[in-house]
Amino acid sequence: MAIPIKNDAAIARMREACAVASTVLYKLKDSVKPGITTYDLDQIGRDLIADLGARSACYGYQVGSRRFPAHTCLSVNEEVVHGIGSLKRILYDGDIIALDVVVEYNGYIGDNAMTVPVGETSSARQKLLRVTEESLRLGIAQAKVGNRIGDISHAVQTHVEKHGFGVVRDMVGHGVGAHMHEEPQIPNFGRRKSGDVIRPGMTLAIEPMVNVGSWRTRTLRDGWTITTADGADSAHFEHTVLTTEEGPEILTIPRFDSPVTVHATG
Ligand code: MF3
Ligand code: CO
Repeated sequence: MAIPIKNDAAIARMREACAVASTVLYKLKDSVKPGITTYDLDQIGRDLIADLGARSACYGYQVGSRRFPAHTCLSVNEEVVHGIGSLKRILYDGDIIALDVVVEYNGYIGDNAMTVPVGETSSARQKLLRVTEESLRLGIAQAKVGNRIGDISHAVQTHVEKHGFGVVRDMVGHGVGAHMHEEPQIPNFGRRKSGDVIRPGMTLAIEPMVNVGSWRTRTLRDGWTITTADGADSAHFEHTVLTTEEGPEILTIPRFDSPVTVHATG
């Protein structure tokens, strides 16, 4: 299947959806503190999304016969991605939590994630967050017209493994647009100059998931939450990026100043 190329109207809508997703993510991050439950955080996320006139793309997201029951994905410590907010999961000082916000706004999807400390965390956990975010930046830098998807993958993997961490294999980044998951798949491991050629007008969700220990994962009995197989910590950062002749442009940048409004684009 071909990778969708967005025209100017689609790009305009992607900008809006991504600004909403990012604004929600940054505001949600400000509510992370010791003592709050992940259920409460998810409710805050739900309200932030509604306040901006958007819809959670996670809520009700269907895989087989299962529907995702929460509005955001909240993954604590050894949880990698797709954690479900719970009244039983209280955040403690020193935990780390990955916040993943995916919204649909005016027919397009913005997807972004970050992992933050709860209060003060250990230097080992701070390093995991730093290296994972750096690997995202390095991956994005490779999202240049004329490069291939494997150049992104290779840059992420090289940086992660240089620091002795493991890069998750069984989940990958993805194209994003009118649908949450579009072509191409964007693995966080791979060879340079492999995969599809990057052309202008692609919107790509690049999302390294990095484990302190082994890259292996397992799924909890809730059918959604992915954790590390060995119980060691994991982190996740994600941006939606537009490819242009002038280089990659991160679309998931928050907009606090003016309300996000969609202008009629026909
Ligand atoms: N950012 C995640 C992804 O791209 C969001 C998944 S939403 C869920 O897969 F519903 F599957 F949890
Ligand atoms: Co994603």
